[in-house]
Amino acid sequence: MTEKSERKLSRRSMLGFVGGVVATPTLLGQPATGQSANRMRPRAGDELVFDEGPRQGEIVRPGLLELHARPIAAMARDPATGVVRDGSRLNRVMLTRIDAERLSPRFQSNAAAGIVAYSAVCTHTGCDVFNWDAEQLRLACPCHESQFDIYDGGRVVGGPAPRPLAMLPLEIVDDSVRVAGPFRGRVGFQQAF
Ligand code: FES
Repeated sequence: MTEKSERKLSRRSMLGFVGGVVATPTLLGQPATGQSANRMRPRAGDELVFDEGPRQGEIVRPGLLELHARPIAAMARDPATGVVRDGSRLNRVMLTRIDAERLSPRFQSNAAAGIVAYSAVCTHTGCDVFNWDAEQLRLACPCHESQFDIYDGGRVVGGPAPRPLAMLPLEIVDDSVRVAGPFRGRVGFQQAF
């Protein structure tokens, strides 16, 4: 991680890391039977809303995301019912705008208008991946410094994470960023701690 990387842990991450969360089927991204709408994984057609900050709850508009700006945290919302799928932290994604032409070709279908979304849950032991290396253009995990390449499908480029971040396919509908399909890649982590 470079000096420009931020190392502060959010309260959410600390709780997730220190609190002794044990990986369960739900944490591993496997829907449990009878789960409520807010725990269901993002679905095609869901709109994305800000998950924190002064815009929390607002629809994410493409124009609000600047090229290579620090990724913002978002959750999917069912536009028909208004249910935000915040019943599982595995539904949280980090969104940012990239130079679409530089994105690895095999992942281009997951981007929309240069915007990409990656799972916010580190594949190592599940901390929130919210640090941003603005120099290397990498998402980074504050717990054990895993780094993920946003231009290559969340590929691991540093640290102990065993696999890439899952990518959430996007589309733009009515000037809003929407989910185009289920996560590509496995969401969650494997290790209990
Ligand atoms: S939990 Fe992210 S690097 Fe360990």
